[in-house]
Amino acid sequence: MKWYAGSDHAGFRLKQLMIAVLKELGDEVVDVGTLNEDSTDYPQYGQEVGKKVVGEPGTFGLIVCGTGIGISIAANKVPGVRAALVHDDFTAAAARAHNDANVISLGARVIGPGVAESALLMFRSTQFAGGRHQRRVDLIEPKP
Ligand code: RB5
Repeated sequence: MKWYAGSDHAGFRLKQLMIAVLKELGDEVVDVGTLNEDSTDYPQYGQEVGKKVVGEPGTFGLIVCGTGIGISIAANKVPGVRAALVHDDFTAAAARAHNDANVISLGARVIGPGVAESALLMFRSTQFAGGRHQRRVDLIEPKP
C-alpha cells in the first residue's frame, strides 16, 4: 500500500511512529511534513495529503494533529477526500467498511500510540463493504 502522511507540530511524534509501523509492514509512505515540532498550521498538511490521495487513486492518507479534528476538516475540503477521525479499532473499521474512508485522522493528544497503532492496522486491513454503503458514499460528494 502507498500512503501520504502529514501532521502539524502536535501530531509530529505520533505521525513518525505510525510511519514506522507502516514501513515495517512494507508499505510506501511519503511524508509531506511537518518535519519537526516547531509550531505550524495544520490546514496545509491536511490539504496537501488530501490532494495527493485524490490525485493518485488507490493511495491512502494518514493525518495527525492534536485532536485530529482540524486537520481532518482541512483534508475534507478537498473534493474526493473522505477523511475519518478515528479513535479506536471500532471507528477505524467502520470508517473503511461503511464510509470507504481514504484518509485516517488521529488525535495525538487524545489517544496513545498503542491505540493509534491498533486503529491504523484495523483501517489498513478493512475493506469497503460496498452495497448500500456505496449509495451513501456516492451521495457525499456535492453535486455541481
Ligand atoms: C495545535 O495546538 C492544535 O490546535 C492542533 O494540533 C489541532 O488539535 C487542531 O485541530
